[in-house]
Amino acid sequence: MSCRAVIFDLDGVLTDTAIYHFYAWKALADELGIAFDEHDNEQLKGVDRLGSLRWILQKGGLTLSEAEENRLMQQKNAHYLQLIDHITPDNLYPGVQPLFTALRQKGIKIGLASASKNAAFVVERLGIAPQFDYVADANTVSNSKPDPEVFLLAAKGLGVAPPHCIGVEDAQAGIEAINRAGMKAIAIGDAKVLSGAIRVYSSVKAIQLKDLLSV
Ligand code: BG6
Ligand code: MG
Repeated sequence: MSCRAVIFDLDGVLTDTAIYHFYAWKALADELGIAFDEHDNEQLKGVDRLGSLRWILQKGGLTLSEAEENRLMQQKNAHYLQLIDHITPDNLYPGVQPLFTALRQKGIKIGLASASKNAAFVVERLGIAPQFDYVADANTVSNSKPDPEVFLLAAKGLGVAPPHCIGVEDAQAGIEAINRAGMKAIAIGDAKVLSGAIRVYSSVKAIQLKDLLSV
């Protein structure tokens, strides 16, 4: 395979926003009296807002009206936005900018495939928005990861066929989405928790350009 594009997830891959999604869901679950911990949260990484809320409600044996679901999603999002209010380019994970620069020098395109409706806001605040050749997010797709739609849309927007794309993800749902899109998956996180990737790194900083070129 010759790599012509690398498509990155955002939360937990390029910056530490994954923890703020967890804090905001945890606060909501506590308020609803539903037990929710970091282990549960692993299931929610990469899952969209409604899917995440329903997962928590189901864990607590609750079924709510659409209006009530909307109110809780708004509440969680307002809390999340408050938690990420301080984000600046300093919150970009170490190693991201050097990797982007190296990819650009090799003529490899850079895409984003995020399940978050806040993705454009976050990449703007991180100061990296102009570096993406294409951004696909929850505002532009209808099916959440593990459906491959967001990665396929990114590949199409980049003009690169999926077999020439590498996806980078910290979520199991995201790794599955990359594989279903017909791309190679690179995982960021714990090899004991994540499966289905060709390589697992502890952070983006550990990714070597030569490794991507030899995939
Ligand atoms: C994903 C995160 O990137 O976006 C999830 O991994 C989050 O934790 C999802 O729930 C949806 O984000 P948002 O910002 O649209 O609520
Ligand atoms: Mg993620």
